[in-house]
Amino acid sequence: MQNVMVTGAGKAVGLGFNLALRYLEEGNNVVATIRKPCKELDELKEKYGDRLIILTMDIGKTASVQAAADELSAKLDHLDLLINNAVTVSRDCNKGFFDADLDLIAGAMDVAAIGPMRVIKAFYPLLKKSEGTALIMSISSEAGSISKCYRTNMIDYGMSKAALNMATMNLYNTFKGDHSINIFCVHPGWIRTDGRPDNPAPLSSYEAAGILMELFEKKRYDFDGHRFITNMNEDYPF
Ligand SMILES: NC(=O)c1ccc[n+]([C@@H]2O[C@H](COP(=O)([O-])OP(=O)(O)OC[C@H]3O[C@@H](n4cnc5c(N)ncnc54)[C@H](OP(=O)(O)O)[C@@H]3O)[C@@H](O)[C@H]2O)c1
Repeated sequence: MQNVMVTGAGKAVGLGFNLALRYLEEGNNVVATIRKPCKELDELKEKYGDRLIILTMDIGKTASVQAAADELSAKLDHLDLLINNAVTVSRDCNKGFFDADLDLIAGAMDVAAIGPMRVIKAFYPLLKKSEGTALIMSISSEAGSISKCYRTNMIDYGMSKAALNMATMNLYNTFKGDHSINIFCVHPGWIRTDGRPDNPAPLSSYEAAGILMELFEKKRYDFDGHRFITNMNEDYPF
């Protein structure tokens, strides 16, 4: 039984909610972070009681993240797994360079790339109190690979995930030699996270979450391997 925290878990069709659900189903304690109330998460709370803690947190704001960490510290003595899942994109995400408002990029990056770092910093004391090796899994994307980039749109998203990957590598170096904590960034596969049946992505969020759960436990004690991996446990180029 682990204490698992998932950010951005307040959308029932999304990956974060389904990761929270999967970990609950497997008997773990789950901290699900949201920005606004989520009916389906409230239903899980009724079903799983004390095993689910719902925490309000805006990862774009350091004060909000720290307040959430303080609140959790009063309820839970450690965390074994942190999944940085929350993301945002600008309204111009699908536009190309000449049409996109470039001033929107910084806001997206502040949440999607710096947000996970805020979370890691604020919850680090709880992760350090894990009995074994605490694991940080940041949900990245193939879109964050610089060497494999083929797109001319999704500039803010690609830049955010590339920056998240860089942050992961930097923190890996920071934690190196300390086997009480490990960190990876993961491309989670192509997923119908909008819940639309006409979405051609092969995986439902529930299916993707199940695959990731297995992967995460395989990687917990891998301190030397490549840091950017896919849901199929393949190394992916930065
Ligand atoms: N779908 C795919 O095929 C695919 C592929 C590669 C990677 N991914 C990654 O997989 C992850 C999950 O994808 P998804 O589509 O399920 O994500 P999503 O629904 O777009 O976002 C996840 C959650 O992030 C929350 N969020 C947004 N801004 C936030 C903030 N400032 N503070 C805290 N939470 C915030 C949202 O909360 P609200 O509900 O309040 O807006 C939302 O519930 C993402 O990291 C995504 O980049 C997905």
